[in-house]
Amino acid sequence: MKRDFLSIVDWTPAELKKLLNLSADMKAHPKKYRESIKGKSVALIFEKQSLRTHVTFDVGIYQLGGHSVYLTQTDINLGKRESIHDVSKNLERWMDAVVVRTYAHQSCVDMGRFMKIPVVNALTDYEHPCQAIGDFLTATEHLGKLKKKKFVFIGDGNNVCNSLMLMSAKVGMNFAVATPEGYEPPKEIVDLSKKEGKKSGAVIEVLHDPTKAARNADVVYTDVWVSMGQEDEKEKRMKDFEGYQVNKELMKLAKKSAIFMHCLPAHRGIEVTDDVMDSKQSVVWDEAENRLHSQKAIIYTLIKG
Ligand code: CP
Ligand code: NVA
Repeated sequence: MKRDFLSIVDWTPAELKKLLNLSADMKAHPKKYRESIKGKSVALIFEKQSLRTHVTFDVGIYQLGGHSVYLTQTDINLGKRESIHDVSKNLERWMDAVVVRTYAHQSCVDMGRFMKIPVVNALTDYEHPCQAIGDFLTATEHLGKLKKKKFVFIGDGNNVCNSLMLMSAKVGMNFAVATPEGYEPPKEIVDLSKKEGKKSGAVIEVLHDPTKAARNADVVYTDVWVSMGQEDEKEKRMKDFEGYQVNKELMKLAKKSAIFMHCLPAHRGIEVTDDVMDSKQSVVWDEAENRLHSQKAIIYTLIKG
């Protein structure tokens, strides 16, 4: 049975732990995995822009001995030039896996359904599970055991927030998100996270006051206020998110040992100040690096079974 990596929801805590351990091993012993997917081809389909996800999948697949084919909307015009179904039916005849970044989460789910080969969600409007794996590798490197520690997300209850909340719940890390009214994460993600949290011991909180959320945090995380595809809402969002910036004052409420995280790209001076981005607490470049190791682990796991 082929397996997809579409949502953190679909993977058990034990499987996620295994992925994290494999990511760490790939980072520590890259040579061990050289040639491990020799002769395998992976399509990288991107409806939206990307720096980190594109480069790290491309380089990661190369480092494992495989080959990647990068396809943008200019090339295939997914769903317009040809239906998602028909594109999928073609790809499964040539490729060994597909990594796909779409606007609609459903497009990604549909590709998984239409193909006999594994599909990886490289970000949709709903989730960014690859980011969550890389970030929990980074958090583990800096904080050690994560159970009962506190992960705080300030800003928009968006795709990145959804995957991080689910991941926290699965690994037993407490999670607090502070958003403006109306920008909370979707109810079903919060409910699922709380349900998982009951099993793992993680406390999940949805708040509106960033200072309350940041208190005693081990991780302070933020993301852009306007995600790709929301450009029309920019003016309103910039007003609504006033007061949700991660700056030195907010960081002072977190633990002294707290780390600052951001999936990137960052809008400096908007959701985060330069002095936080460039501080000793910031681990943003480690996060970017770890996308490489963790995605190698994801591809390896799906292709090798
Ligand atoms: N964090 C992240 O996914 O970056 P890109 O959009 O550049 O891939
Ligand atoms: N929330 C952002 C994340 C980019 C990596 C977006 O969807 O644009």
